[in-house]
Amino acid sequence: MAKSVVKRIGVLTGGGDAPGLNAVIRAVVKTAIQEYQMTVVGFENGFGGLIKNQARELTEADVVGILPRGGTILGTTNRDNPFHYPVVKGNEKTFADVSDRVFENISIHGIEALIVIGGDGSLAIGKELYDQGLKVVGVPKTIDNDLSATDQTFGFDTALTTASDAIDKLHTTAESHHRVMVLEVMGRYAGWIALASGLAGGADVILIPEIPYNMDIVVEKINARSREKKKFSIIVVAEGAKPLGGEMVVSKHVEDSFDPIRLGGIGNVVAQAVESATGKESRVTVLGHLQRGGSPTAYDRILATRYGTGAVNLIAEGQFGSMVCLKGQNIKSAPLEQAIGESHTVPVDGELVRVARQLGICLGD
Ligand code: F6P
Repeated sequence: MAKSVVKRIGVLTGGGDAPGLNAVIRAVVKTAIQEYQMTVVGFENGFGGLIKNQARELTEADVVGILPRGGTILGTTNRDNPFHYPVVKGNEKTFADVSDRVFENISIHGIEALIVIGGDGSLAIGKELYDQGLKVVGVPKTIDNDLSATDQTFGFDTALTTASDAIDKLHTTAESHHRVMVLEVMGRYAGWIALASGLAGGADVILIPEIPYNMDIVVEKINARSREKKKFSIIVVAEGAKPLGGEMVVSKHVEDSFDPIRLGGIGNVVAQAVESATGKESRVTVLGHLQRGGSPTAYDRILATRYGTGAVNLIAEGQFGSMVCLKGQNIKSAPLEQAIGESHTVPVDGELVRVARQLGICLGD
């Protein structure tokens, strides 16, 4: 057993869900109680629970059996930013800073430190609360793997496994029908899921946001495969991929969200262009939220568990305003401002991209 001055902590999950959230919560609760004799209070539905005082104590009994379960027992949302909270005045909707409510509820529950499990939007709010005096520690979450200051976020490995499994399945039907199959995967600003799953699944073309594509080059790759008597092709495209000089395909705007833009539709654009230029029948699969659902992989369970334990250790050590992170093989910490800085995108001259090129995979450039 170790010592901690802090005896009562809060925890919340914010932003889009990712497989492994429950594993983090479980590790936080177990470590806090068993190692430091702390009490843990869970706030529900992201920052909404902190604003509206929706909270409950989490005991070890509450986390029994949740390690392999997807989603989050606390609920989450990418709305309810306390610094930009929608309020209705008469007929008009405006936004106000309601962070005083957060501090009120923190004090009602006697919370001495808060763990924010989230992506860049949630961690940015955590940082702002920290700047105003709340003792905050972050845990990096996102299937997109696009957070700076960590080598990997939890949730990514599960999304990657789901995507590469989908490519395997598309292969057999593509082969039977001699078709071009386009798989659209998540990844707004970073192409990690597309690149890694494309490599794992043996894709012929991989299009990522970091490398704007030229459709003529994609078409030539498909035609070249036909000339080589290869009867089908697999294209993996990240939702944030865009043509040279063009824009990402926006599917809708979600008001009040930390990141109001939702992407989707690039798979269709690519499939139509390929079909009309090559005459080859093309089909699109949009993997969507299947990538965020379900049981985390063993790798994500372990990473999420290490992050949860690490976050409580940071609190005990008094390292506030920081985030647990993975550096090489080790769990370390980094200042929150580093995590919410520039996105961790795929290095275009990095080893993974080089490997893809050396295998003859077309990256659209
Ligand atoms: O940031 C994670 C992510 O899964 C993105 O890849 C995707 O664009 C977005 O969230 C979808 O969010 P929503 O939950 O609003 O559909």
